[in-house]
Amino acid sequence: MKLMLASTLTFLFLLGMTACGQAQTTQDTSAAGESAASSAPAESGAGETLSSEPAAESIMPASEGEKNSTTVNPGHFNFETATVTLNSGYEMPIMGLGTYSLSDEECYNSVTALLEAGGRLIDTAYMYHNEAAVGRAIRDSDVPREEIFVITKLYPSQFDDPEAAIQLALDTLDIGYIDMMLLHHPGAGDVEAYLAMEQAAADGKIHSIGLSNWYIEELEEFLPQVNITPALVQNEIHPYYQEPDVVPYVQKLGITVQGWYPFGGRGHTSELLGDDTISTIAENHGVTSAQVILRWNLQRGVVVIPGSSNPDHIRENLDLFGFELTDEEMTQIAVLNRDEKHDWY
Ligand SMILES: NC(=O)c1ccc[n+]([C@@H]2O[C@H](COP(=O)([O-])OP(=O)(O)OC[C@H]3O[C@@H](n4cnc5c(N)ncnc54)[C@H](OP(=O)(O)O)[C@@H]3O)[C@@H](O)[C@H]2O)c1
Repeated sequence: MKLMLASTLTFLFLLGMTACGQAQTTQDTSAAGESAASSAPAESGAGETLSSEPAAESIMPASEGEKNSTTVNPGHFNFETATVTLNSGYEMPIMGLGTYSLSDEECYNSVTALLEAGGRLIDTAYMYHNEAAVGRAIRDSDVPREEIFVITKLYPSQFDDPEAAIQLALDTLDIGYIDMMLLHHPGAGDVEAYLAMEQAAADGKIHSIGLSNWYIEELEEFLPQVNITPALVQNEIHPYYQEPDVVPYVQKLGITVQGWYPFGGRGHTSELLGDDTISTIAENHGVTSAQVILRWNLQRGVVVIPGSSNPDHIRENLDLFGFELTDEEMTQIAVLNRDEKHDWY
């Protein structure tokens, strides 16, 4: 059974490499080839340098066939190590913990539970007011710093003095360096803030940089103004808001996609976790609806950061490799899309 799963995953991985040769070439040239979550890249620098004109195929939305394809591995995830090699050359876990709305104590306990359960990816932000708790939990853990991958974000209110904002994040987290820094939303001064992150990456303070809440139009306008291709785009993604155009568009640029609100966000989780289609699939595999949703994301090449203050849920949300969704099940979930956004950005 284990062997069968491994060979199926290898097949899917190889198929994905063939289907997405262009993006893979980019990633291959900068592959880290090491297993630590934030191991040093093969080549220095925060990411691939942008050419002035993106390749024509990069800006084409996915064809109907590509959109509906469920058998490729568009994120080039390594399911053996549960990581992805970013275009910056750094390796990032493909599942972790989101900390939005967690208080200091909840956040400290959740990060501690994640690290004890083997999880290594944590998403925080200046706006969540819990960077200090994330940093404290990491410093108090026995897990070596270089195995942990921390994402934080600059809020638009900080874009007028990005150097100070970056330093504040470094000081508040107090974990040496930041694995990934994102701009939280588009806003006045975002290009200058991104250029400041590029400089911080060149100075070794940040390993990789990216964007959050940037969609196709925003990316088309933004990318020609900066030098380093974002390593990550983090957007709202769940079965009722699947972004069938944005996800392949971003992936074709060689950028890794990460989804926020995987369970729809607080206030919507019972509807999503209780969805008939998802519950039936979960029952058939002997797993939970939460695990089905997370696994569906991974099979689309989308990194997951579910939020939780419950250690049982945190462990469950990392246990995603004992089953695999069939093409038919992936399609059953694909048709649940309602383009129903659960937040304004
Ligand atoms: N970039 C952005 O603009 C942006 C915006 C929003 C969020 N985010 C990021 O995305 C992360 C995820 O979003 P979110 O935390 O707001 O919403 P979410 O992950 O969709 O849902 C969190 C809710 O799901 C519950 N839950 C978690 N695991 C569960 C499980 N296995 N079974 C049943 N319930 C489960 C949690 O309850 P328990 O605590 O009881 O487990 C919590 O109420 C955030 O934490 C944040 O890091 C980014």
